[in-house]
Amino acid sequence: MSVRPLPAPSPSPAPAPAPQPARDRTATQLSTRFAEVRAHTERLAAPLSGEDQTVQSMPDVSPTKWHRAHVTWFFETFVLAGNEPGFEPYEDTYWFLFNSYYEGVGPRYARAERGNISRPGAHEVGRYRANVDERVRTVLEQLDDGTLDRLAPTIELGFHHEQQHQELLLMDIKHVLSRNPLRPAYLHAPLPSGAEATPMCWVEVEGGVVEVGHDGDGFCFDNELPRHRAYLEPYRLADRLVTNGEWLAFMADGGYRRHELWLSDGWARVQAECWRAPLYWEEVDGTWFEHTLHGTWPVDPDLPACHVSHFEADAFATWAGHRLPTEAEWEHAASLHGPAARRHDRATGAPEAGMTLHPRAAAGTSAGTGAGAGLRQLLTDCWEWTSSAYLGYPGFHPPQGAIGEYNGKFMSGQMVLRGGSALTPGTHARLTYRNFFPPGARWALSGVRLADGPAPARTAS
Ligand SMILES: [Fe+2]
Repeated sequence: MSVRPLPAPSPSPAPAPAPQPARDRTATQLSTRFAEVRAHTERLAAPLSGEDQTVQSMPDVSPTKWHRAHVTWFFETFVLAGNEPGFEPYEDTYWFLFNSYYEGVGPRYARAERGNISRPGAHEVGRYRANVDERVRTVLEQLDDGTLDRLAPTIELGFHHEQQHQELLLMDIKHVLSRNPLRPAYLHAPLPSGAEATPMCWVEVEGGVVEVGHDGDGFCFDNELPRHRAYLEPYRLADRLVTNGEWLAFMADGGYRRHELWLSDGWARVQAECWRAPLYWEEVDGTWFEHTLHGTWPVDPDLPACHVSHFEADAFATWAGHRLPTEAEWEHAASLHGPAARRHDRATGAPEAGMTLHPRAAAGTSAGTGAGAGLRQLLTDCWEWTSSAYLGYPGFHPPQGAIGEYNGKFMSGQMVLRGGSALTPGTHARLTYRNFFPPGARWALSGVRLADGPAPARTAS
């Protein structure tokens, strides 16, 4: 590492700011971050009408205004209650309407019925948000040092919780708009196109005893801990995601018609739900189109295949003669070979013309991003299905109380996805992040990176 010289002293230095007590720095930092995160949610909702924000197109999808209210409920419940002098809920009924799944907090409205909440309207949800914003700011200014220290991790959890819902908001409105017969666009900007995906290359990784799990002082969710050892045989990972063109070849070779490629539960879903392409694909007069947040476009063979379930990812890998990576393989390889894993922060600013909310091609357009540059598209394009069931790491213990319901109670019947997507806020993605969905879920921005090597792989016969 080179040592940069210190800048020359200014001939007429500005007056130094008065030393800031540690407590004020923390309160100021939290308040600034709080304002940033809260404002971004409102920017994401801004292109949507009150009607758009009310629709629930399937049980897994929540209305936009429900997301806006629920993340507010989270701060009201876990930060204000118990810390604000004379605390009263903004509205008693909101505790019931906007509790997602916290049994320890109290009863809640059924998830699949959230589309029936025509009132409060989107505007009233905005008033709720503004009220809680002001009260959180006041609490941050007034808490004593000890309480602030104790509460800071919960406030930070609230930031990351809201960022999770920012991605969910976009995932969900994409599904909502896809069910509108007019197929409206969320954002009127063209898809990233024109770039040619480079041929897939393998990145070889040595095996051995490795360490996985979060390390260091930065934020992580409880499910990323503790850091622990894992043993890996030698393996290799594809340097880029599977493309639409490769997915079209899978389809043309009978991928959705050949039972031998599929896990049993997956084959049952193919038949029950008549799957024959990724979620948002539609064939019109022999041409495949894809609904996106930018409207409906012809399928671009160079863009990553996305909105596929774990079952489809596994079937594709079997068809290709390879397999999905385990999450330990993914994380270890990413830590060694992911120097190009910088985020482009596409989803952190206001939605605007020119930005893309869709994965991009793995094109060799600049130094450090082309073939041979290591693992590409790690955090920036599609969440990547792994072959790992979502379970607690060795030594995992969820926190006490209702906040312990955040992750641990979902460790059954779900598969882990790694990386991040074009919808993930840039400051939210990290290499140890463990996303998870049921294996049949398709509405996340999920794609496929192939693996090869001694870990179990199924062979079509
Ligand atoms: Fe939530």
